[in-house]
Amino acid sequence: MKNIAVIGSGTMGNGIAHVFAQSNYKVSLIDISQDALDRALSTIAKNLDRMVSKEKITSADKENTLTNITAFTSMSEGVNGADLVVEAATENVELKMKIFKDLDEACDSNTILATNTSSISITQIAAVTNRPDKVIGMHFMNPVPIMKLIEVIRGYNTSDEVTNQIMEMSKGLGKIPVEVNDYPGFIANRILMPMINEAIYSLYEGVAGVEEIDKVMKLGMAHPMGPLQLADFIGLDVCLSILRVLHDGFGNPKYAPCPLLVNMVTAGHKGIKSGSGFYSWGHGTKDLILADQFKK
Ligand SMILES: NC(=O)c1ccc[n+]([C@@H]2O[C@H](COP(=O)([O-])OP(=O)(O)OC[C@H]3O[C@@H](n4cnc5c(N)ncnc54)[C@H](O)[C@@H]3O)[C@@H](O)[C@H]2O)c1
Repeated sequence: MKNIAVIGSGTMGNGIAHVFAQSNYKVSLIDISQDALDRALSTIAKNLDRMVSKEKITSADKENTLTNITAFTSMSEGVNGADLVVEAATENVELKMKIFKDLDEACDSNTILATNTSSISITQIAAVTNRPDKVIGMHFMNPVPIMKLIEVIRGYNTSDEVTNQIMEMSKGLGKIPVEVNDYPGFIANRILMPMINEAIYSLYEGVAGVEEIDKVMKLGMAHPMGPLQLADFIGLDVCLSILRVLHDGFGNPKYAPCPLLVNMVTAGHKGIKSGSGFYSWGHGTKDLILADQFKK
């Protein structure tokens, strides 16, 4: 495989394009928004500059990586000749179904179609194509150039051959792929989201405050940040929607989202992206400042 197309140039898409291009693949980066493409290319250049200044790569590596990436606003043009497409568009079931139907028509019959979805069933996405054996999940972690893990998710019909190809290719990118099966939340979110939800329940029930909960998990479990801070980073709306996927998918009340989480999202307190969640953001300081609602 030589030619990769990445659909969506947001937070994840720009990182995915970066790591493939740095490993010498030719990358077509596709987005419906020219602004998003411009932002992505400038983010990739900045991230490469940081790597040059830390002497992790040379200036020539940077230039080579950038010349490996071509931006497109037309999906059919961008996927022309692609051996692998990695879809990293907005997390929305109808949108992904439409993209995969279109990809199935636009791509060569041998092209592997991967999705970076955090929570949508790979089997469901594969079912709208005529090549369910060649549809697979490649769940990269944020920030993509730094995080080593790729959760490789086999849909119900994904072939052994395609799974092996993606596992090997992921290793070639300098990543560590882990193979899992396609059930709600896969492994990462199935385990992470209930932990975050339990932290929110503990706060809601008054067992401890925001800082105390995060401190226990940071210091006691050696987590790099507490679950409430992490929820602010991920986005409380994203956490809520993944919990709903788990709750609906398993029909088990243990996944029911905490009412406090529902209230916060409804009130527009979505974490870093909205300026406030469990903590208050955007002060230009690295210190954690509690959101007003959680000050004692
Ligand atoms: N952000 C994370 O931490 C994270 C981690 C792992 C996986 N994911 C998954 O990655 C995917 C992308 O998430 P993100 O955070 O990068 O989103 P984002 O909102 O930052 O970017 C999504 C991009 O998709 C583009 N887009 C929308 N419709 C499109 C279409 N039809 N064709 C081409 N581009 C289109 C948008 O213009 C936008 O630039 C989602 O499936 C998400 O669940 C996100």
